[in-house]
Amino acid sequence: MNTKSKSGFSSSLGFILVATGSAVGVGNIWRFPYLAAQNGGGIFLIIYLLLVLTFGFTLLTTDIAIGRRTREKALNAFGAMKSKWKFLGKLTFLVPLIIMTYYCVIGGWVLKYATVYLSGCRDQATQDDYFKSFLSSHASPIVFTLIFMAITVFIVYFGVQKGIERFAKVVMPGLILMIVGIAVFSLTLRYTDSNGIERTGMQGLMIYLKPDFTDMTFSKFLKILLDAMSQLFFSLSVSMGIMVTYGSYVKKDTNLSRSIKYIEYFDTGVALLAGVMVIPAVYVFYGTQGMTSGPGLMFVSMPKVFNAMGNIGTIIGFVFFAMVTFATLTSSISVMETLVADFMDLLHMSRKKTSLILGVVYSIASIIICLGYNVFYFEFTLPNGQSAQLLDIMDYVSNSFLLPLISFLTCVFVGWIIKPKWIIDEVEASGDKFSRKRLYNVMIRYIAPVVMTILFFQSTGIL
Ligand code: TRP
Repeated sequence: MNTKSKSGFSSSLGFILVATGSAVGVGNIWRFPYLAAQNGGGIFLIIYLLLVLTFGFTLLTTDIAIGRRTREKALNAFGAMKSKWKFLGKLTFLVPLIIMTYYCVIGGWVLKYATVYLSGCRDQATQDDYFKSFLSSHASPIVFTLIFMAITVFIVYFGVQKGIERFAKVVMPGLILMIVGIAVFSLTLRYTDSNGIERTGMQGLMIYLKPDFTDMTFSKFLKILLDAMSQLFFSLSVSMGIMVTYGSYVKKDTNLSRSIKYIEYFDTGVALLAGVMVIPAVYVFYGTQGMTSGPGLMFVSMPKVFNAMGNIGTIIGFVFFAMVTFATLTSSISVMETLVADFMDLLHMSRKKTSLILGVVYSIASIIICLGYNVFYFEFTLPNGQSAQLLDIMDYVSNSFLLPLISFLTCVFVGWIIKPKWIIDEVEASGDKFSRKRLYNVMIRYIAPVVMTILFFQSTGIL
């Protein structure tokens, strides 16, 4: 299906809202804090911010401008620009294909926590090993994942995303206010552990903000760089075709340069705040060792925070997890929608049939991912040295391996074959100035291809 026939966004605000709605998800609230904590806080933060302003901006601009200029979604856009490069569109399609295998699993975890707080059993959730035992139980994670998957498929099946988007406009600002409030509360925390050592939220904040360069080595730096870059791709949903598709709906008179700035700042702002909410709390209750706990970080630290709030914590905990569930849902719908639209095109099937088939396939895939924590448990070490289960492997393959490769190819294609002017002209087509034009040029031709090559080899373990 050609996107020309689809209705575009009625205003640039509409575009900004929908694009940020898809960008802001568990990537910001769950993934960013745990990566920042794992990588020692401050250094990760600085590197991430630098990457957003350079790489994030370049890749986001490229995706959106390609979409708007070709009026095609990613699967066809690259082929429309140069037929030999059609394969790049297909390659980008692989990313949502992989991400979808585990996105609903995380959605299920969040949903589980929402129900725990709803049923008032928060004391259980506060116990130290609650998350671990939940994960390793057989039925519960699967049940919640499947409920989450069913809601996603239901909405895509009936094509009622519009209603969800309207609802999202209310929930998302609410979620952000909530994160700010909890973040402020996290900073007031104080706890004395069994060794008599007292730790405070403000100390935790310093660990989050202050870079610590002691025993920094080149290979450690590369690892942080790769983690930060993979987070950037995931969080902004760039180089995976999504933003190309959104770009194809944007009107010609929309100021792209400004809209992109808003999406960039907004997505990053939410991630930074989520860090303030999660990291000081982990530090207060578990010290620096707790910070390495990985994907479970949000699920072990937030219950502690809600517990420290007293009785009201049950309600706040419920509202928080319900809102995160919702933010995750808007993202999972957007991933599923992309897949359904592309498969409808490829297989010439109806929306309903495609949604059902994908729903079944992904339910099976998600069950396998859930079982990765018990039945299919094994110790696997990723090239970056981290031990990984099925979910981490999928995450690594898409975000740390495929995305640097796709970005490298996109930069070479745009920088050297199509030439940056093609993109710059599109950004300026509305008559507005492209303020970071020079930066864009240097990034896409020289810096991005070189860094992506290094990261690609780093991710395969060759470097
Ligand atoms: N950016 C989303 C987040 O931060 C995750 C995501 C990755 C996504 N790829 C996507 C969302 C594709 C929508 C579409 O959680």
